[in-house]
Amino acid sequence: MISYAAAVLIVIFGQISMMKPTFKRHTITAALPYTNGPVHIGHLAGVYVPADTYARYLRARGREVAFICGSDEHGVAIAIKAKKEGKTPQQIIDKYDQIIRKSFQDFGISFDNYSRTSAAIHHQTASEFFSVLSDKDIFDEKVSEQLYDPEAREFLADRFVTGICPHCSHSSAYGDICESCGSSLNATDLIDPKSTLSGATPVKKKTKHWFLPLEKYEGFIQEWILDQRKKDWKSNVYGQIKSWIENGLQARAVTRDLDWGIPVPLNGAEGKVLYVWFDAPIGYISSTKEWAAKEGVDWEPYWKDKDTQLVHFIGKDNIVFHCIIFPSMLHAHGDYILPDNVPANEFLNLEGDKISTSNNWAVWLHEYLEEFPDQQDSLRYVLTSNAPETKDNDFTWKEFQARNNGELVAIYGNFINRVAVLTQKYYEGNCPSGKNLTVLDLETLDTLPLLVQKMESAIEQYKFREASQQMMLMARLGNKYLAEQEPWKKIKTDPERVAAILHTAIQITAYLALYSSPILPYTAEKIKKCLGIEDLRWDSANQNFTSLIAEGQQIQSPGLLFEKIEDHAIELQRTKLQKTKETMNETPSSTANKEEIDFESFMKMELRVGKILSAKAVPKTEKLLEFEVDLGFETRTIVSGVALQFDPETLIDKKVTVLVNLAPRKIRGVYSQGMLLLAENSEGKLSFISPADPAMPPGSEIS
Ligand code: 2FM
Ligand code: ZN
Repeated sequence: MISYAAAVLIVIFGQISMMKPTFKRHTITAALPYTNGPVHIGHLAGVYVPADTYARYLRARGREVAFICGSDEHGVAIAIKAKKEGKTPQQIIDKYDQIIRKSFQDFGISFDNYSRTSAAIHHQTASEFFSVLSDKDIFDEKVSEQLYDPEAREFLADRFVTGICPHCSHSSAYGDICESCGSSLNATDLIDPKSTLSGATPVKKKTKHWFLPLEKYEGFIQEWILDQRKKDWKSNVYGQIKSWIENGLQARAVTRDLDWGIPVPLNGAEGKVLYVWFDAPIGYISSTKEWAAKEGVDWEPYWKDKDTQLVHFIGKDNIVFHCIIFPSMLHAHGDYILPDNVPANEFLNLEGDKISTSNNWAVWLHEYLEEFPDQQDSLRYVLTSNAPETKDNDFTWKEFQARNNGELVAIYGNFINRVAVLTQKYYEGNCPSGKNLTVLDLETLDTLPLLVQKMESAIEQYKFREASQQMMLMARLGNKYLAEQEPWKKIKTDPERVAAILHTAIQITAYLALYSSPILPYTAEKIKKCLGIEDLRWDSANQNFTSLIAEGQQIQSPGLLFEKIEDHAIELQRTKLQKTKETMNETPSSTANKEEIDFESFMKMELRVGKILSAKAVPKTEKLLEFEVDLGFETRTIVSGVALQFDPETLIDKKVTVLVNLAPRKIRGVYSQGMLLLAENSEGKLSFISPADPAMPPGSEIS
């Protein structure tokens, strides 16, 4: 029979991929969150936990890292929020900047600098950036027609206009994006636009703006991105960029008529500000400057030296800005390096539904910590092991509980706890001798560096889920080893063997502590402290197994590492969400379960009064009835799943509503040409929809 350790060896051999070229330093950026609301688990899973894991990993390996972020404080979303709440934009950003900062701190997101785009250094950096491009004649100045609200007497920023999406007919697309089909829009493309300020129909009015001529950078982006592909960019990211390029890049206005933002630093541009997506990514640069000034280091190599690896951690909705627009800006400027990778994640859903800030369908970080105090690593772990790396994923409280209790508590925590308790009990907390290790012990220990290499390789390829699996594999290895060796049964009869077992287990514990640190920073820190290995570096253990804890070294118990999460705590969370859903359903705007449709979509349905001529059961089915329905202009066969509810005889001559232009389809061998409409109550009782006036002739149109 093959041992567990040997099996692990087989699994990991051959999967260790080539390491990437080593950079001299790393500038790691995480998307600057908009400062118009708190942050939730979707933010954490998509951007901040992976970015933090990567930054912690690089630091642990002794690399020079600047992990950069800050609050994104301009833009219309903030201006809108301020208007809604009767506050100034400054009041809004001050409030949320505090909340967001604290959440990040509380979850151990180890930014080297967290700045704000309202900071003077950012205004100056963004203005200068714009001026450099302007001096180089990069921008096209264009007088264009923009939507203007004649009642509010303001030009309308994209977000202040809603209307019908020209691509998918979604009825409430914004002026810059359709959240239904994801198309990027110009406000003037919208069909039937409305101002969100006054409800008025906007008029077109001339205004001058500065455009970044993206079409001129198409060749550059194409060439650059092909190069990046060789570096194994994620296919979701590469695919999105490719499709943008295939659709043809178009000039983008980088200025706006708005009273909140960074003033355009040009004469003749009074009342205009930089477009938030022009200034926000420059925020990475200004935050780096702020950090460098505090640290007394030079910021420039972090943005200009080819030996610097620049990595942007973002969500998928930010891909175009980080992979097309910002690189074009950096290229146009000329002094800057381009990102080495943009490992954008997909979205995290919550209990099957899209996370929605406005509907409060979210798990807010500050609330999580109130309910699960000191359990940051549990959430970090679950969000990593279920990260939306290649597709949208779902967070459920049940899975959170299962992973916490079944993996962190039962495997990881249980193993560490047993090792600490037994070492205390048998050896007064001193690591016993390792001189009598058996082949099995050595085989087990030899597995550890291979797991570490696998973890390294995964992290370097931004596969954090896989890295977390390797970490858990290490804990499983230890837990299984101890359970099988049963030192508690051997202590009386074979104390020498027990010493070897505990020595081995303590080494696994040390490996776990050291190599969990990017994923479970709080836990790793606690264990390291108890083992007295706070100063051990990642590379202390080399490619072959290295003993990390010497005989006689004193170790202490870290206490309870992970708390079991009880059913009632999960039920509480689910009830809370259920209440949110009920509230959502009470608000008139969202009483419908299905997505809103526009009038044109409704008008596509041809509904007519029909008269049932005959009804009979479809053979070999329980639920289906086959109807002949008189539609005035013709008779149709229609199959409907109502046999359990109605006696066919009672339906003859009944007037019903028929969807006439539904594509025909074969149902259990019967060609069905339309649909009979029914109402269903909460107990499942069905009723045909009949015209109030029974004299309505078959074929009458319903609209
Ligand atoms: O999508 C967002 O939340 C933006 N505030 C991200 C900005 S990232 C960067 F460019 F600053
Ligand atoms: Zn659309």
